[in-house]
Amino acid sequence: MRRYHVTTFGCQMNAHDSERIKGMLEELGLGEAVEPETADVLVFNTCTIREKPDTKFAAYLGHAIARKRANPETVIAVGGCYAEAQRERLFELHPEVDVAFGPGSIPHLGEWLGAGGFGVPRGSFGIDERTFAGELPMHRERSFQAWVQISMGCNSKCSYCIVPAVRGREVSRRPGEIVAEVMRLAADGVREITLLGQNVNSWGRDLLPDVRTEFGELLRACDAVEGIERIRFTSPHPKDFRAPVIAAMAEADAVCEHAHLPLQSGSSRILKAMRRTYTRERYLRLVDEMRAAIPDLALTTDLIVGFPGETEDDFHETVEAVEEVRYDAAFTFVYSPRAGTEAAAMTDQIPDELKRERIERLIDVVQRVAHERNTERVGRVEEVLVEGPSRTDPSLLRGRTRRNTTVNFNGVAQPGELVDVRIDAATSTTLRGAQAVPVAA
Ligand code: SAH
Ligand code: SF4
Ligand code: F3S
Repeated sequence: MRRYHVTTFGCQMNAHDSERIKGMLEELGLGEAVEPETADVLVFNTCTIREKPDTKFAAYLGHAIARKRANPETVIAVGGCYAEAQRERLFELHPEVDVAFGPGSIPHLGEWLGAGGFGVPRGSFGIDERTFAGELPMHRERSFQAWVQISMGCNSKCSYCIVPAVRGREVSRRPGEIVAEVMRLAADGVREITLLGQNVNSWGRDLLPDVRTEFGELLRACDAVEGIERIRFTSPHPKDFRAPVIAAMAEADAVCEHAHLPLQSGSSRILKAMRRTYTRERYLRLVDEMRAAIPDLALTTDLIVGFPGETEDDFHETVEAVEEVRYDAAFTFVYSPRAGTEAAAMTDQIPDELKRERIERLIDVVQRVAHERNTERVGRVEEVLVEGPSRTDPSLLRGRTRRNTTVNFNGVAQPGELVDVRIDAATSTTLRGAQAVPVAA
């Protein structure tokens, strides 16, 4: 049997795409190799959001090329956002690549990889709507958790971002199709779903009037599916987060008390240059409205430092926003110019040294606030979905709270079970606890 190995870079959308890539390869009769060293087909599902994933992929590809030299039968396939961004010159840049495909052309994988007889590079790019999950085979990593893609592409024009160029215009999946998939997953034993889209709050706007609806309604429809105990979604864009979605979060039991709400910058001036289309004040108002409606809401975010023209004052406003919102966690990024984006052509780029200095200062604040937030949980009992043994100490179990914090705890439970855990200690990223023993009636 020929064996494949998929290496995945980037976001949850890419992780989900990899499940489909694996599903397609298995349908072609290939088996999964645990290690790349034993695989005949090496697949890389790439990311190009910043320079770092590009560099990381280049290093991995170097290893794959060395393997191909030693064993010329090895097939190298490169998919994902980097492949799409480089589609004009991918085979020129990397002549060792046999097959290339973008995130929108996964359905073609069978045609390219099934045929055999390599030697001529082949690939396909662009957007094929059959890429939507429901219509492709899928190899899910966990039996009790699943991603559900609700849209592809993005209609925003954030000036720093490469995603619209590589994932195309936004196309929403029809609500009936999404709910049917959620029902299939529930019947299959899935308890937690994460709805995926680049901007989940604009989902549905492109649908025909007969099925047009909005994201809050979709949350309620998924909540009504028997067996689904937790619903998450990522990412919402603050500009489109409206009252009906807040109400649905507050009222639908399965929707978790967590929102990942990317702020990017705390300076309205920089937000404008980023074309985020909201101000600092509007964002903070949204946070207040959400917190008023959803008690105990966890908020996480994405922050970029060193956007072109960012002054010390602008940066300080980002730091202040972190203190004011009190995020439970934040992903912090150094601005990375991406070829072809509006911001990459701006003349007032910030020197690397200053970017690095700012991100270090920001990380300190983010960690302090996150530690304070997590410490507030100590003494409480939280519902945890068990995921498996702890990564650091196999005598403990690992799971996540509804607020999406990882907990390592003493207990006896199987992956996929929901258990109550008493929180005993906190770091800036994780909680420690012990399974609460149910009190006999
Ligand atoms: N569509 C999602 C995710 C976008 S990519 C959303 O809008 O929320 C994830 C994060 O990467 C972004 O939120 C942003 O913080 C960061 N990012 C995107 N492009 C970047 C760039 N050129 N440099 C640094 N960070 C970037
Ligand atoms: Fe990129 Fe902005 Fe679209 Fe997110 S909303 S994918 S940051 S363009
Ligand atoms: Fe995701 Fe990276 Fe593409 S963040 S959408 S895999 S560029």
